[in-house]
Amino acid sequence: MPEAGSLRVALLGCGVVGTQVARLLTEHHDELAARVGATLEIVGIAVRNPDAPREQVTGTPLEPLLTADAEGLVARADVVVEVMGGIEPARTLLLSAIAHGASVVTANKALLAQDGPTLYAAADAAGVDLYFEAAVAGAIPIVRPVRESLAGDQVRRVLGIVNGTTNYVLDRMATEGLDLDVAVKEAQSLGYAEADPTADVEGFDAAAKAAILASLAFHTRVSLDDVAREGITSVTADDVASAASTGHVVKLLAIAERNRAADGTDGIQVRVHPALVPVTHPLAGVRGAYNAVFVEAESAGELMFYGRGAGGGPTASAVLGDVVSVARHRVLGGRGPVESWYADLPVLPATESRTRFQVRLEVVDRPGVLAQVAAVLAGHDVSIEAVRQTAGHAAADGHEVAALLLSTHAAPERALAATVEALEGLDVVREIVSVLRVEGS
Ligand code: NDP
Ligand code: HSE
Repeated sequence: MPEAGSLRVALLGCGVVGTQVARLLTEHHDELAARVGATLEIVGIAVRNPDAPREQVTGTPLEPLLTADAEGLVARADVVVEVMGGIEPARTLLLSAIAHGASVVTANKALLAQDGPTLYAAADAAGVDLYFEAAVAGAIPIVRPVRESLAGDQVRRVLGIVNGTTNYVLDRMATEGLDLDVAVKEAQSLGYAEADPTADVEGFDAAAKAAILASLAFHTRVSLDDVAREGITSVTADDVASAASTGHVVKLLAIAERNRAADGTDGIQVRVHPALVPVTHPLAGVRGAYNAVFVEAESAGELMFYGRGAGGGPTASAVLGDVVSVARHRVLGGRGPVESWYADLPVLPATESRTRFQVRLEVVDRPGVLAQVAAVLAGHDVSIEAVRQTAGHAAADGHEVAALLLSTHAAPERALAATVEALEGLDVVREIVSVLRVEGS
C-alpha cells in the first residue's frame, strides 16, 4: 500500500524518454509533490536488461529500481508510465495496470492508433485515467487542446508536421544537400527516430499521430489502417531543389479534414504524404526536429501549435504534465476525458480528396508537345495553373529533351492519377519525374 500522501509511480522503459522522465521525477520531486498534493515515488523501472550500463542511471539511486519484472511492477503502482514503445508487451502491461486500478500515461502512438478503443474501454470500466499527450508531437500540447479546449467547437481541418525525424531529414536535405540515409542516421543519433526508423521515413509514425488527432478532432474512431500513407523515401534532392525554385519547401504533412465525397457522403479524410508548402506559409518555417500543428475550427478560426516534436527532454515534459494531471485526480477525485466517438463519421478514401499538384516530367522538345500534354490534362478536367519549361538536353537517342513543370489548380486525386497514367502513355513523354501535392496555399 502507498504511504498516505504518496503515489507509487511505475516506469515502463528507460530509454531516450524514460531516462528523462525518471530524471525529472527525481530532480523535481518536491515541486511536483506541491503541484499534485502528494509525493510521486518511483517504485520500479522496467527494462529488458537491468544489468546494462545506463548513462544518468547507473550509480544513481535509480539503479536499484531497474527490473525485468514489468508484470510484477504494474501490479504495485498507482500510476503507470509506459515509454517502452511497440505493441506487445506494452498493450498487455497497460491493460494489466488498468485492471489493477492504476491510472496510465503513455507516449505510445503506435499502440493507441492500433488499439486505442480497447485501452479506452478498459480504463473506462476501471474508472481510471488514460492520458497520452506525448504520443503526438512530443512536447507540444496538442492532445489536451483538441480533446478539451476545443470540445465546444467544430474542428474542420488539422494540418501538421508531426514527425521530427522526417522534418529534420528534409531540412538537412534542403539546407546541406545531405542524402536521406545520412540525415536519418543523424536523427537516430539525436534520439529523434523510432527504434526502427522506417516507422518515421515511411510515414507510419506520422500516420499513427494523424489517426489519434483525427479521432479526437472528429469524435470518430480512426485507426492506422484508415490513414492514406506515403513516406519520404521517394523524395529526392532534386525534388527539394525544384521546390525551392518555385518558392516551396517539401514537408511530410499529416492532414485530417472534414470532407464530402462525390456521392454526397459527409465524412473525414486522413492522410500523410510529402507536400510542397509555400515558403510564405508558417509551416514552411518549421525547421529541424520541430513540429507544428495547424487547427482550423469553426469558431476559433486558425490555431497553430509549435515546438519540439521529439527527443528525451521535450517528450518527458509532456509525459510529466500527464503524470501530474492523473495524480491530481487520484488525490482530489475526478477523472479526465473518456473516449468520444459519438459522431462515428465515415472515413472517405484518399481518392476523394482535392489538391493542387506539381508534376515534373521530361518530354521530347519539339512543336506540338505542349499541346498534347495540355490536352491530356484538359481531357481529365484538370486545370493548369502554370507551366514552366527549363533548358533541354540531348538524350542518348539524339532527341532534344526538355523538363516541364506543370502546376495545377485543385483537382480530385483520382483525376490526377488518371492524368499521370495517360501522360505516361504519350510517346513524347520520356519520364514522369515526380508528382507532389501542394498544400497550405
Ligand atoms: P527507446 O528504445 O529509447 O527505449 C525503450 C525502453 O523500453 C528501453 O529502456 C527498453 O529496455 C525498454 N523496453 C523495450 N521493450 C521492452 C520489453 N519488452 N520489456 C521491458 N522493457 C522494454 O525508446 P524511446 O524512449 O525513444 O521511446 C519510447 C516511447 O516513446 C515509444 O512509444 C516512442 O514512440 C515514444 N516517443 C518517443 C519520442 C522520442 O523522441 N524518442 C517522442 C515521442 C514519443 P532496454 O533499455 O533494456 O533495451
Ligand atoms: N520518431 C518520432 C519523431 C518521435 O521523429 O517525431 C516523436 O514521436
